[in-house]
Amino acid sequence: MTSVANAADVSQAGSVDWDALVARYVAGEKLSVLAREHGLPWQRVWSVLFRRNVLRTGGGNQPIAGSKSSHRLRQQIRRILRKELGRGPGLRHEIQVNWPDGETTVAAGKPHPKLERILQLAVARKNVLLIGPAGCGKTFLAEQVARLLGLPFGMASVSGGISEGQLTGRLLPVGDKGRFAYVISEFVKAYETGGVFLLDEIDAADPNIMLVINAALANGKMPVANRAERPYALRHPDFICMAAANTFGTGADRQYVGRNQLDESTLDRFRIGQVEMDYDPEVEAALCPDDELLHRLQTYRQRARDARVRRVISTRFLKDAYEMKQAGWTDEMIDEALFCGWQRDEVSKVRGY
Ligand SMILES: Nc1ncnc2c1ncn2[C@@H]1O[C@H](COP(=O)(O)OP(=O)(O)O)[C@@H](O)[C@H]1O
Ligand SMILES: [Mg+2]
Repeated sequence: MTSVANAADVSQAGSVDWDALVARYVAGEKLSVLAREHGLPWQRVWSVLFRRNVLRTGGGNQPIAGSKSSHRLRQQIRRILRKELGRGPGLRHEIQVNWPDGETTVAAGKPHPKLERILQLAVARKNVLLIGPAGCGKTFLAEQVARLLGLPFGMASVSGGISEGQLTGRLLPVGDKGRFAYVISEFVKAYETGGVFLLDEIDAADPNIMLVINAALANGKMPVANRAERPYALRHPDFICMAAANTFGTGADRQYVGRNQLDESTLDRFRIGQVEMDYDPEVEAALCPDDELLHRLQTYRQRARDARVRRVISTRFLKDAYEMKQAGWTDEMIDEALFCGWQRDEVSKVRGY
């Protein structure tokens, strides 16, 4: 798709020697000074530097407190997270990261083994696509990333039925005397002012929604048609786009749950950031610290996969089952809840009798 924004990029490019400008920036000159000298808005310069992946710190001429993107920080993430993850399982339901700049950030929950990879991508400001079965922790992990980077978190389920306005902002009768005024969306807010935004169930999104998403991720700006006074939003250096797609199975076996397969133009925007997730035994052991129950449910899941029964036995279910068992439920009551709505042959394949 060729967007208006793309065309604008091309038409302006002729008058500026970007290679020379980028070289001066890399050599240490200030973005704001270079922008002024060329008579360009800083956002425009920023978006070129962003795409060439040479931005220092938070970017723009407005470094954001708590922004984790300097080269030094990036290098140290691996080591820090190794140490965190190396502490192994247990009932520690909190992750703490001590950043080299002296700041400490904390996120609730256990570290999923894919957290390190995803944080590296997020720090490098890449779009991240989480691909995995329902209830394996995709949403939870996206929020952890936001907390650990000290950025706001927002999300929207983009599965069929949501309107473009829910992503780009709407005109609502909220002005004086019921006049229609533009009301910003969470997505545009994160896009313009920074934050981690999760597009959930992206594999089930309508094509018109995918066009909005693809345009936003194509370059440094997105059309905001309903906002007459500023019909474009500029991508903030601390906007991190994450998306989640549900699958049955993983690896070569995986099938998207959504009705629409992701098309190549979308996948390309997430190529480097595709991360396959699965249920993690250590996270589950922490959330369901009852070996017998844990083993039984994980065995059910393995049998379901082996027999290609397309049913979900999620980390969420294991946690809920543990909590209900603590509240006095028997194994039969838990199984009854799990198998509710299943076909009889599916239940027998999974139970093994
Ligand atoms: N890393 C984790 N640490 C603690 N709890 C987790 C973790 N991952 C998932 N959970 C629990 O499992 C539930 C389901 O995870 P969720 O992120 O909603 O799955 P998904 O988005 O993949 O469907 C969460 O509400 C949370 O209670
Ligand atoms: Mg989710």
